Amino acid sequence: LSVVVLISGGGSNLRALLDAAADAEFPARVVAVGTDRPEAEGLEHAEEFGVPTFEVALSSFGSREAWGDALLEQIQLWRPDLVILSGFMRLLPPAVVAALAPNLINTHPAFLPEFPGPRAVRDALEAGASESGASIIVVDNGVDTGPIIARERVAVVPGDNETTLHARIKPVERRLLIQAVLDIANGTLDLADAALSGRRAIT
Ligand code: GRF
Repeated sequence: LSVVVLISGGGSNLRALLDAAADAEFPARVVAVGTDRPEAEGLEHAEEFGVPTFEVALSSFGSREAWGDALLEQIQLWRPDLVILSGFMRLLPPAVVAALAPNLINTHPAFLPEFPGPRAVRDALEAGASESGASIIVVDNGVDTGPIIARERVAVVPGDNETTLHARIKPVERRLLIQAVLDIANGTLDLADAALSGRRAIT
């Protein structure tokens, strides 16, 4: 399974995928890593594993659609079977989602549909939640609204701050992501079915 991963930050989930894919038994390969932020630290993981990278910065384009078209063109060069958004902090224009879905999944540091959006960890803390979670979804045109293909609860501990809670969520997120890639690669998870069945795809 050829995978393109899009990141915006540290790429800890990307790193987990690269480590897993280094095992010849793992049925997926990260063929390229893309980002909207040329300074994304996670690009170092790709370089360390000799995986090609590409940057498509929003600021280089006059519109979100033009940016999306350029990003899509870069992605499609690699002819991936699956595109993973992992810490990619931009909404993809509908034309990009339409071209890639349902082979387009996202990791999210909350137990969706709880706490969607870019501040999920902080929102859970501010809501006084006693537990949050991690989720993997098929991307649709909403913000973290697509069909859930995996999710798991993560405890909030008294005294948690955004850093400590996120640090407890990320290993769960990584495990769910690796498992989802395995399930997709070996056919036990069909993304087209998941996309068609909508929210009811919760495992
Ligand atoms: C991850 O928790 C991801 O789900 C969220 O942002 C975080 C990025 O972490 N969207 P990293 O860049 O993979 O380390």
